[in-house]
Amino acid sequence: MISLNLPKWYDLHVHVRQDAPMKDYIKAQIDMGCAGILAMPNTKPPVGKVFEKDNLPYWSIEHYKRAIEFHADGAFDQVIVPLYLTKDTSADMIEEGAKSGLLKACKYYPPHGTTNSDHGRPLQNFMDNGVFKAMEECGVTLCIHGEEHGLSGSDYFDNSGNAETKFYHDKMPHLYESHPSLKIVAEHITTAAAVKFVKGTGKNVAATVTPQHLLYTVGHLVQGFRYHLFCLPLVKFDEDRQALREAVTAIDNDKFFAGTDSAPHTTKATPCGCAAGCFTGQIAPQLYAEGFEAAGCDLNTEDAAKAFEKFLCLNGPAFYGFPPSKERFTLTREKSLSKPLQTESGAVVPLPVGLERPELDWSLVLE
Ligand code: NCD
Ligand code: ZN
Repeated sequence: MISLNLPKWYDLHVHVRQDAPMKDYIKAQIDMGCAGILAMPNTKPPVGKVFEKDNLPYWSIEHYKRAIEFHADGAFDQVIVPLYLTKDTSADMIEEGAKSGLLKACKYYPPHGTTNSDHGRPLQNFMDNGVFKAMEECGVTLCIHGEEHGLSGSDYFDNSGNAETKFYHDKMPHLYESHPSLKIVAEHITTAAAVKFVKGTGKNVAATVTPQHLLYTVGHLVQGFRYHLFCLPLVKFDEDRQALREAVTAIDNDKFFAGTDSAPHTTKATPCGCAAGCFTGQIAPQLYAEGFEAAGCDLNTEDAAKAFEKFLCLNGPAFYGFPPSKERFTLTREKSLSKPLQTESGAVVPLPVGLERPELDWSLVLE
């Protein structure tokens, strides 16, 4: 039986939310061998200031990080909370936050482009007001949700392009040229265009890839409208999935790493639409292993196992500048079952279950 003994990994893009279920979402991360997380700031209100004392109507990184660490109870050795870039973000905030050590990253959301992104402002704002320049000078990473916003339906998604390809063609090159030393993570990338952009940049640009984008295409979503697979950016076409698979499984990959974008919703379908976000808590390493196998990797071979370890456990910490975990966990190629996560606010359905496929090819054991 194939067995992979790995350092605990870091989920460098996850939503652990707030209020009562937060502890359950954090436990779901710990239960799948996470040694730490980068926790998204799209809470209500958003995490839009660094210090509690700052007089702005947002949560602070100080506060949100403390709440996460409280629930993790010592299980995480890294918790990064990026600052949500809003109309109130200034270069001074960046400089002061970076100096304090609390501010490691900022998050760009396309205005109104995804769940709780209404406080986002267009990219150009932060190029004009000195925020990106301050980040570049202070070594603060820009986590970027790379989708163009405000598009009409056929520009948003059709067979000749979509919100992500548009962003990587029209916006990213300009950003990169204007701030060549800015550390950028192209988050949850879904297209061949994004892969190509990231590959063509220096060491200061990297990308996260989710399990769902390695495993599925838009056909899986629309066949029976399996809305548990509805997340943003949307799953795309086979050639996009192929580009992602090639990028993450390359033995010399040091730019692409794990960031699940696990985004729990207790209510997915609403009377006026569907909440965007897939939940992969408890099962993401198993799904990533399935993704590598679907890409044609035999995880029994040394090269494939090494590429998997780099993607899941090593590249992310190296990019963010902290050491890999010294603790370990094991994945074995043995069937297991995925099941909904019960929380005080209702159940959250994880991905393969939402796709009517509760069986996983891999099992996970913590040491
Ligand atoms: C995320 C969420 O639910 O918070 N949803 C998603 O579809 N990925 C927001 C985000 O990361 O875009
Ligand atoms: Zn996300």
